Amino acid sequence: MRDARAAIGALALAALAAAPSPSLAEGDAAQGERLFRPCAACHMIGEGAVHRVGPQLNGLVGRAIGAVAGYEFSDDLVEAGVDGLVWDADALDRFLAGPRDYFPGTRMVFRGIRSEEDRQHLIAYMRDAGGVAGEVVAEADTEAVDPEVAAILGIAGDVPYGEYLANECTACHRAEGGGDIPTIRGLAPSVFIAGLVAYRNGSREHQVMNTVSRRLGDEEIAALAAYFQSSE
Ligand code: HEC
Ligand code: HEC
Repeated sequence: MRDARAAIGALALAALAAAPSPSLAEGDAAQGERLFRPCAACHMIGEGAVHRVGPQLNGLVGRAIGAVAGYEFSDDLVEAGVDGLVWDADALDRFLAGPRDYFPGTRMVFRGIRSEEDRQHLIAYMRDAGGVAGEVVAEADTEAVDPEVAAILGIAGDVPYGEYLANECTACHRAEGGGDIPTIRGLAPSVFIAGLVAYRNGSREHQVMNTVSRRLGDEEIAALAAYFQSSE
């Protein structure tokens, strides 16, 4: 039953992404608005929303987890986003059911919503009030891609220079991966760059990677991203 509903939700979202219009198949946005009251203690949504204790929630549905610019997320959320997870209906449902069950390290102190219907109402409300990713609802920053990441993505990476710089990385990041060290070969540049930027600005903490990334300028990161993407 749960999976079937999740599948319906995912289909509804896919349809919405193609033609943004009415609310989710299951959820009732008007009921969701009432259910959102306790959330509003920490979150703003809609026109002019800004970050408070929690991040503003405009453009939430479909955007990368823990990625809205200008907010310091916990490592758990940042890493989920860097790994390519987005807030689709299933992820939102799991998070709202039990934030800590889904992301043990989350800073959102909220016990969760037991009723699946209530969760669907809330998701419908957040989609209606805040729009889906990419739609601009407010002047406040709703960018899914951090501007720093976007700037580096715009630089054409020099592959031979990247290969030269990679000597410093491959001592740890071996082709097969292994242990606690993720494999970085073949990573999409958007993911690679978002990872290094998060270490460089400290939003993702790992002592070695913080030190390594702070020595890298934008040109170097672009060159490394181009090299690691091309090397299998
Ligand atoms: C006591 C404050 C508080 C309450 C109440 C609260 N949140 Fe949060 N919320 C947060 C914080 C803090 C974060 C950032 C979590 C992190 O970085 O781990 C967050 C994160 C989120 C995110 C992830 C946003 C993103 O861009 O990745 C969503 C979605 C969310 N909350 C929805 C809700 C909903 C819906 C409710 C009400 C049912 C709610 N929150 C209640 C504080 C709160
Ligand atoms: C001393 C070992 C070491 C060196 C040297 C090193 N890394 Fe890392 N790197 C790690 C570890 C360990 C992690 C995982 C850290 C974590 O859990 O956040 C990591 C994570 C990463 C990630 C995130 C991957 C992901 O899947 O999220 C990227 C990208 C990355 N490193 C790139 C580089 C680049 C580029 C260099 C060279 C300039 C480099 N690393 C040098 C150990 C190293």
